[in-house]
Amino acid sequence: MIVYLNGQFLPKTEARISPDDRAFLFADGAYEVVRAYRGHLFRAKEHWDRFDYSLKALRIAPPANTDFSAIATELLKRNQLLEAEATAYLQVTRGAAPRKHAFPADTTPTVYAFAAPFANPVEKWTNGVKVITLPDQRWARCDIKSISLLPNVLANQQAQEAGAHEAILVRDGFALEGSLSNFAAVLDGVLHTAPRTNYILPGISRLVALGLCSALRIPVREFPVAEAELKCATEAMLFGTTNEVMPVVQINDRKLGDGRPGPVTRQLQQAFRDYVEECRSRG
Ligand SMILES: Cc1ncc(COP(=O)(O)O)c(C=O)c1O
Repeated sequence: MIVYLNGQFLPKTEARISPDDRAFLFADGAYEVVRAYRGHLFRAKEHWDRFDYSLKALRIAPPANTDFSAIATELLKRNQLLEAEATAYLQVTRGAAPRKHAFPADTTPTVYAFAAPFANPVEKWTNGVKVITLPDQRWARCDIKSISLLPNVLANQQAQEAGAHEAILVRDGFALEGSLSNFAAVLDGVLHTAPRTNYILPGISRLVALGLCSALRIPVREFPVAEAELKCATEAMLFGTTNEVMPVVQINDRKLGDGRPGPVTRQLQQAFRDYVEECRSRG
């Protein structure tokens, strides 16, 4: 596997990162994951804009002229993934320095990236998934795509152990988003999803899905569903780079509707798939 590290493409086995890197010591960095559909980087501009937003919030300046699209595409090429389904992962950290909390002077940020093959979750797209609700134990800057993901890791692990696909995080009584996806539920025919605040990651797939809702005239309310109201949801779904539009057919012990993905979810899922294909063929 060929990876990218600080300006070089090299075999992963030769990539060396200092144990003083602040990613290792403090999880001090930000990342992005972009979906590559047979070489097409889906909504790349939105991903790089969000990367820029996260890095600015953390006050990390990536090396000048770092071209993330060019890095991702070169990684796909060097790993024979240009014709495949894949993801590209890119991470920028504050760099290596003796361990002190405050920012070190004059460190060079570390830039690391890799591409990996991706298998579409076709069975889950077809049949839907179970989710569980858990308390949101994250910080108050969930809008930053930080590599500091311990609460997300713990929640996701708990979901896996409960036989669920995702954990929906509940803060102050409201179901906000998943550990690695945004969340929406249909109540009275209206798709509800948490608004863009510091308590959710502004997902690119969420943005695409909301655009599709508008085109399909699916009514939307950007307001989170109270955990207590989830029992009134007729449908629910996840949005994310690897999930696209993932139907949710069970929340905790309660099946939604007849336990099959509902009509709004199906319509949105198909529209998302069609939009991906349109973007890919446009290049
Ligand atoms: C916490 C969280 N919310 C939402 C998302 C979905 O964002 P996107 O659609 O940009 O992948 C992610 C993706 O990793 C995430 O980690």
